[in-house]
Amino acid sequence: MKAPGPTVQELLDQERTEVPSVLRDTSAVFLGTEPIAKERYTDQAFFDREMDQMWSRVWQMVCREEDIPNPGDYELYEIGDTSLLVTRTSEGAIRAYYNVCLHRGRLLREESGHADEFKCPFHGFTWDVDGNCTQITSEWDFDYLNKSELSLPQAHTGTWGGFVFVNLADDPEPLESYLEDIPAIYETRGWSLEDRVKAVYVSKANQCNWKIALEAFTESFHVIETHPSATPYIADANTQYDVWEGKRHYSRMIVPRGLHSPLIDPLTDTEVFRAGVAAYAPDLADSGEIPEGLTPRQAMGDVRRDYLKRNMGIEADDLTDSEVLDTIQYHVFPNLVIWAGWNSFLCYRFRPNGTDVGSSIMDVMILVPQNAEGEPESVREPTRLTVEQRYIEAPQLKGLGDVFDEDVSNMAAVHKGLRSMKGTGVRFASYQEMRLRFFHHILDRYLDSDDG
Ligand code: FES
Ligand SMILES: [Fe+2]
Repeated sequence: MKAPGPTVQELLDQERTEVPSVLRDTSAVFLGTEPIAKERYTDQAFFDREMDQMWSRVWQMVCREEDIPNPGDYELYEIGDTSLLVTRTSEGAIRAYYNVCLHRGRLLREESGHADEFKCPFHGFTWDVDGNCTQITSEWDFDYLNKSELSLPQAHTGTWGGFVFVNLADDPEPLESYLEDIPAIYETRGWSLEDRVKAVYVSKANQCNWKIALEAFTESFHVIETHPSATPYIADANTQYDVWEGKRHYSRMIVPRGLHSPLIDPLTDTEVFRAGVAAYAPDLADSGEIPEGLTPRQAMGDVRRDYLKRNMGIEADDLTDSEVLDTIQYHVFPNLVIWAGWNSFLCYRFRPNGTDVGSSIMDVMILVPQNAEGEPESVREPTRLTVEQRYIEAPQLKGLGDVFDEDVSNMAAVHKGLRSMKGTGVRFASYQEMRLRFFHHILDRYLDSDDG
C-alpha cells in the first residue's frame, strides 16, 4: 500500500543527469505496531533514565568548529545537570572541560566567550585554556593538593562536518564508527558541511518534551494538516523514509518537491510551478511559464540551479533535481538533524532544557556555502526565543519563521495532550512514522543495555 502518485525512486527515473547511488539506496523496515507509551514523553523518571543511560553515552553535537576559532574561545554546552566548556586550546585542539571549579564546585563560566584563563569567580582558583591548574588561592592552606594533579576533567570530543561532538562516557565508541556511513554519504556527492558558514542561528525554548519537538521535524506526514499552504508544491505523502537494517544511529527522509500533494485536488502544472518558484526563489519567478517539454519539477529544478549558481556560488549544472529541490534529511541520533544536497542548508538540534521533562530547546542553523553572495559571516551567539515568543520574531529566518510557528503550535498541545491521554499510548504510522519508531528503538537500546 502506498499513497497515489510517484515514489521518490520513480521521480529519480526522470532525472536528466546521473543519479547518485546514495539516493538510490532505499530501505524500509517493519518495526512493529506496539503503541509508544505516553510516559516516554511525560514522565520525569523516564526522562531521568534518558539522562543516566542515553545522554551520558552518546555523541552529541555541541557547536560548530567556527564557533571557537582561536585559542581560548569556548562554548558553554549544557545537557541535563552537566555543564561543559568546549574550548580551543593553546595548540588549537578542541577539548570539553567540565565547567566546574575543583575547589567548592562553582561553575567556572555561565556563558560562551573567550578566556585567557579560567579563573573561578568565587575564590580565584585558576586554570589555563589547556586545563592545567595555575593557581590555588592561599596555596599554603592546601598543602595536601598538588596543582599538577588538579587539571580540569574532560569529556571526549570529536569533529565531523564542521560540527563538534562530545561524549560523556568514560570509554566511548569512537565518533567515526558511531556516525557509521554518514561521513561517506556526505563525501561522495560534495554535500560536505565542513566549509559552511553558520549564517543564521536561532534557539527557541518550547514547552514540550524534547522528543515531541524532534518528532515534529522528522516526518512530513503532518504537512497536509499543519502546513497546508505548502501542499501545492510538496508531495508530502510521497515522501521516502529510509531506515536501514544494521544501521544503528541514523535514518533519512526524502520529501519530493515540484509536484503537488497527492492528498489535495489536482492542480495544473503551471499552478504547481508558480507556487513552487514563489516559495523557493521569488526573485526569479520571471515569466512563470514552464519551458516546453519539462515537468514542473524539472522546471523548478532549473530555477533552483540557476539560483544556486548566481547567489550561492555553487556549480550546480550536474546536480539532480532531487538534490536541489527535495528535503533530503538525515537524523543522527540523538540530537542532530541535517540536510543533504542543496535544498535549504538547514540544520536542527533538539535537546532537553535543563532537567525538566516538559521543556526543550530547538536550535535552527542555516549553514550556507562560504562563497555565497554577500560574504556571509558566522553567527556565534544564537538569537534566543522564549517559550512565549514566535519564530517570526527572528526575521533572519525569512519565510521559514511562519512554517516553524505552525510546527510549534502543536508542541505544547501534544505535551499537554499526552499527559491527559487515556489508554495505550501513541500510535505511529507503519511507514510514514517509521523513523520515529526507529528512534525509540535506538533509545531503548541505550536504556536497556550498558553498552549502547
Ligand atoms: S569555588 Fe572556585 S575558587 Fe572556590
Ligand atoms: Fe513541519
